[in-house]
Amino acid sequence: MSITDALNRPLRDLRISLIDRCNCRCPYCMPSEGFHQAYQFLDKKEWLSFEEIVRLVRIFVSLGVTKLRLTGGEPLLRPDIDELIRQLSAIKGVDDLALTTNGFLLKEWAPRLKEAQLGRLTVSLDTLDEAIFRQMSGQQGSVKDVLHGICAAEHAGFDSIKINCVVQRGINDHTILDLVKYFYGTPHTVRFIEYMDVGNQNHWENAQVVASSEVISLIDAQFPLQRLQITQNRSTSETYRFKEGKGEIGFISSVTKAFCGTCSRLRLSADGKMYPCLFATHGMDLGAHLRGGATDEFLSHLIRELWIKREDHYSEIRSSVRNTSKTSPKIEMFQIGG
Ligand code: GTP
Ligand code: 5AD
Ligand code: SF4
Ligand code: SF4
Repeated sequence: MSITDALNRPLRDLRISLIDRCNCRCPYCMPSEGFHQAYQFLDKKEWLSFEEIVRLVRIFVSLGVTKLRLTGGEPLLRPDIDELIRQLSAIKGVDDLALTTNGFLLKEWAPRLKEAQLGRLTVSLDTLDEAIFRQMSGQQGSVKDVLHGICAAEHAGFDSIKINCVVQRGINDHTILDLVKYFYGTPHTVRFIEYMDVGNQNHWENAQVVASSEVISLIDAQFPLQRLQITQNRSTSETYRFKEGKGEIGFISSVTKAFCGTCSRLRLSADGKMYPCLFATHGMDLGAHLRGGATDEFLSHLIRELWIKREDHYSEIRSSVRNTSKTSPKIEMFQIGG
């Protein structure tokens, strides 16, 4: 079965946040000053249990979802995540099961993730420069930890890993080529992400965004690139290949080249709220219905209702929304995992 929203987009991808906590404090997501000791993260009791997640996923799959991505906060902080992965990977109809991590705990987790049949792995790594890394992680972790994590993942059998790099002007844009060089000739794909105005905490300004076109020119001058034409592209990124060597590189350009037209993604927070867009201002409390005794049919009805009415396309209308003097607070990145 397949359902389409008000803009004729099918529901295909579900991004599941497993926890809103993180062992990192990226200023573009969870700046330390906003998330001191007293900040109230979700209580464990509020997290959807594995049983509840699996039940919901089966319903989502019956509505057309084929692709799952596990996120956080930092998903590897969720105890026994391998058990959940094992259960999700066994669901018929789940063709793609991926996880996005900051990589701090990957060294320990990689073999167990592979054993549990996780399909794909994405690791965030904004720079190879330790000092800049510390600045961009709110003084948490190190490049060394993340690279060890990536190595461990390779050894565990993840053969093509995506490396996500958020580019911020004046912060890490001068280290872009180092990252390209480091992963050049490997099976991994570095993806440069335009800094986005997600959440309400990062004091985003357009001047801090480096347009992908600029990053592409910079890389192309040293490593000639060729755009790959991918049919049926529902992805967030545009992919290029190196003309003079093996390997690919990607660009996620939500600010300068919005991809809302093909957005088939629904997001579920750790406490079971459904968000139709990364920039949504409120979520539909599916978890409350589930815990209130709703049947599968009713939960399916609620998901369908939300999707059928969906007309979100924030990235296409960013400037006009931002110019409106009063807007409601958006969901935070760490609550729905990007
Ligand atoms: P693939 O399935 O491998 O293509 O991964 P992905 O790009 O869907 O997921 P990932 O977690 O690696 O996200 C990469 C970047 O794209 C992050 O910065 C996300 O916040 C951003 N992103 C993911 N989905 C969306 C979306 O629907 N809209 C916008 N604006 N950004 C998104
Ligand atoms: N803009 C762009 N990407 C972001 N991410 C987190 N916050 C932002 C932002 N403001 C990225 C992370 C991770 C992914 C899930 O989202 O670096 O790679
Ligand atoms: Fe950084 Fe991801 Fe943690 Fe946010 S959730 S602070 S982007 S590592
Ligand atoms: Fe989808 Fe919203 Fe991102 Fe557009 S801004 S691609 S609608 S999540």
